[in-house]
Amino acid sequence: MNIKSAIPKHVAIMMDGNGRWAKRKLLPRKMGHIEGGKVLEMICASSYKLGIKYLTVYAFSTENWNRPRDEVDGIMHLFRKYLTDSIEQSVKNDMRVRVIGNREGFDKDLVNEIDKLEEATRNCKGLNFQLAVNYGGKDEIVRAVNKILLLKDRKSVISTDDFSSYLDTWEIPEPDLFIRTGGEKRLSNFMLWEMAYTEFYFTDILWPDFNEVELIKAIEDFTMRERRYGRIEE
Ligand code: IPE
Ligand code: IPE
Ligand code: MG
Repeated sequence: MNIKSAIPKHVAIMMDGNGRWAKRKLLPRKMGHIEGGKVLEMICASSYKLGIKYLTVYAFSTENWNRPRDEVDGIMHLFRKYLTDSIEQSVKNDMRVRVIGNREGFDKDLVNEIDKLEEATRNCKGLNFQLAVNYGGKDEIVRAVNKILLLKDRKSVISTDDFSSYLDTWEIPEPDLFIRTGGEKRLSNFMLWEMAYTEFYFTDILWPDFNEVELIKAIEDFTMRERRYGRIEE
């Protein structure tokens, strides 16, 4: 099967199962997140190779702040490290990086690091990579509403397209395929608006065990789907 012929343009992944992976190996949860980070790098490379144009991954939700302090600190440390360490590699790999989510929850220096990475990769044309950190679908929608309310000369009526242009994802197409690893079958507040017509794929594989073969399996499954968008087959 030539999967290149029907490759999804935008793949969104919820990278779940890091903690359980670590627990199974009698390791601290932190080790699951570290391993998960390595898998993410591999999946970026595979996505590029397979011809995926947009890859969005859910790394930290607005609800994940409710985890124990040391786990949150560990994840934020990995995020910071990624922002500084990945600039050179991202440019070399022609990967444009965007961070989506609520930046109000971040220190100013962290926001500067995000801006720096986004700026450095702005002209990259290979893979568009979106990292969702302190991201919540409801929060994104409410922030969009608040941006609109602040407009001085705002219209009295707006369309769904107008509304989309105020979301963090305003520059990118809606996901074609959503993959959730780790066995749970729920959205956990991910891209609520953008995934209105996305195809869902769930796997029990824990994120640190995910790999290119599993990604191809998900894509092959996607290619078998009939996307109707409310119409009927004629
Ligand atoms: C996903 O893995 C990563 C984050 C939510 C930050 P989890 O940490 O949720 O792993 P499980 O679901 O507890 O195994
Ligand atoms: C969703 O995973 C968030 C990320 C993968 C970043 P969670 O592990 O936080 O989701 P729930 O709690 O199982 O719904
Ligand atoms: Mg989880």
